[in-house]
Amino acid sequence: MEKIPFLDLKKQYLPIRDEIRTAIDEVLDNTAYSHGPFVEKFEKDLASYCGTRYALGVNSGTSALHLAMMALGIGPGEEVILPANTFIATAWGVSYLNAIPVFVDCDPETWNIDPSKIEAKITSKTKAIIGVHLYGQPFDIEAVAAIAKKHNLLMIEDCAQAIGAEYKGKKTGGFGEMGCFSFYPGKNLGAYGEGGGITTNNEIYSKHIQSLRNHGSVERYYHDEIGYNMRMDGIQGAVLGVKLKYIDGWNLRRKQIAAMYQKGIVNEKIKMQYQPEWSDSIYHLFVITTEKREALMKHLQAENIFPGLHYPVPCHLQKAYKELGYKKGDMPHSEYLAEHCLSLPMFAELRNDEVERVIERINAY
Ligand SMILES: Cc1ncc(COP(=O)(O)O)c(C=O)c1O
Repeated sequence: MEKIPFLDLKKQYLPIRDEIRTAIDEVLDNTAYSHGPFVEKFEKDLASYCGTRYALGVNSGTSALHLAMMALGIGPGEEVILPANTFIATAWGVSYLNAIPVFVDCDPETWNIDPSKIEAKITSKTKAIIGVHLYGQPFDIEAVAAIAKKHNLLMIEDCAQAIGAEYKGKKTGGFGEMGCFSFYPGKNLGAYGEGGGITTNNEIYSKHIQSLRNHGSVERYYHDEIGYNMRMDGIQGAVLGVKLKYIDGWNLRRKQIAAMYQKGIVNEKIKMQYQPEWSDSIYHLFVITTEKREALMKHLQAENIFPGLHYPVPCHLQKAYKELGYKKGDMPHSEYLAEHCLSLPMFAELRNDEVERVIERINAY
């Protein structure tokens, strides 16, 4: 039986192979290897796509979050609130600055940060909240923004999984102080290497990040502060520039596949992420939960269907954060998800008959 992988990047590459190769050749012909005109063009297109005044290319989503925290002025001992149910990199930027990530449990239905649990975590040291549009589904932005406003906190969007996702008809990335994107190859908009981006409507953040990513320098060889080399490669800018033209089509196809899963899977042992009416997810991942995950995984693998796991350990229980003192039972919904989640095959090139095969197999479980 034909294999159905969790993700197949080659199937996306082949139809755009010639266009990509021409774009890469142009970078090489112009020796525009680091930052440069191809990245600048992509930044313009990304800002216009997200509806923000500025977009900045960097070398990863992790760097995007790190620089966003620096631009906010987050410092040692200060606290930043973020969900326990996310990829760990949401927290790294906070930790790199010796600030403290403060984790909040997810909502048991949407699986995104639960706004009703945020206020209890706010202290005199809290400076910001990072909301994550996890699996491509927007978190409840207005609810979180209202809490941020009430307590004079800054809100950041982790858009790593959510390029093109909409909240109440408006693209994510322009609601908070900054939106942080990942262009890791497996993302909906993936580079052919590492890449990340920051969107903002704030000129001060934009200028500061341009300097920070480039050795703390505006004028070459004059360094106003300690900076980093977090520039985007020219080749990645060119590749992303080509791929950005296709993102809406790819996202639309993912939505069709998600709709097939939502309608077709009728097995009561399976639970899916609740989609509020204000959310327009781009389904970076299609996550389900089931009581006996290992059994379902084996049941699928026996038919050559390979699901993924996102994520098996919630952030507050990672060894890296053991000194923060969290324990099992602190975030019951995030812990439940970590133990019971399974990500179904999801990429735009999946054929209907493949999606149907996954559905049939799950219903037979
Ligand atoms: C939610 C989330 N935040 C941050 C990141 C970090 O992005 P990157 O891998 O590009 O550093 C990722 C992806 O890996 C992510 O999924």
